[in-house]
Amino acid sequence: MEDLKAQINIAKLPEHIAVIMDGNGRWAKGRMQPRVFGHKNGVKAVREITEAAAELGVKYLTLYAFSTENWNRPSFEVNTLMRLLVDTIGREVKTLNKNNIRLNAIGDLSKLPTKTRKALLDGVERTKHNTRMDLVLALNYSGRWDILNATKTIAEKVARQEMKTEDITEATYKAALSTATFPDPDLMIRTSGETRLSNFLLWELSYAEFQFIPTLWPDFTKNHFYECILNYQNKERRFGMISEQLV
Ligand code: FPP
Repeated sequence: MEDLKAQINIAKLPEHIAVIMDGNGRWAKGRMQPRVFGHKNGVKAVREITEAAAELGVKYLTLYAFSTENWNRPSFEVNTLMRLLVDTIGREVKTLNKNNIRLNAIGDLSKLPTKTRKALLDGVERTKHNTRMDLVLALNYSGRWDILNATKTIAEKVARQEMKTEDITEATYKAALSTATFPDPDLMIRTSGETRLSNFLLWELSYAEFQFIPTLWPDFTKNHFYECILNYQNKERRFGMISEQLV
């Protein structure tokens, strides 16, 4: 088998990879199983991709686990997803510590069920000294929610005269977002063939490379992940400049 991992140029690794894990429901449907069966199998792919990213030396991995729009799903599915998060975090904290991975969360965590929020904050607390990679779970997250929140924070500072309108720059705006401490993603991967952004990291993905791949999330393996990174490395990111300026 072709060794995809060996072809990756470690010197040009994306520092931050963001993933929209899509297709769990369709994966289950294809097996005549309930949708939650897909989410349960999706956890395996979460584990596999986290491991692959850390092994390569990726510094930040952000996973879209639950959007603000996902509350509209049937309550059984929402409850199962929330329980799955509690169980998974509880089970994986040891592995995260063993692998020196720090857990983080972005999103409006105040609206999560108490048990889920507690498990999450406990996982964040117990892994806070790890330094190899940041694993960021986007939970009850949406890009517009974050942008509105940042705008309110900045508006209040201006109203209290702690900040002047002319001090509102890309840097001060970024500092007010929930992703303030993470660099913007270099690469965004969405599985399942959908080619939408679905309210994910709207500010942060401005210059990211997008990879939309047809594989459903529970089938997403390390090799798919390596392939996405190889495709990314074969593209030139120009940040609005022309090729010659990048040399
Ligand atoms: C999208 O598939 C997936 C989700 C909304 C949830 C993702 C959650 C997990 C993989 C499990 C828990 C995660 C962690 C981090 C422990 P979909 O249901 O939208 O699939 P469909 O488009 O085929 O219906």
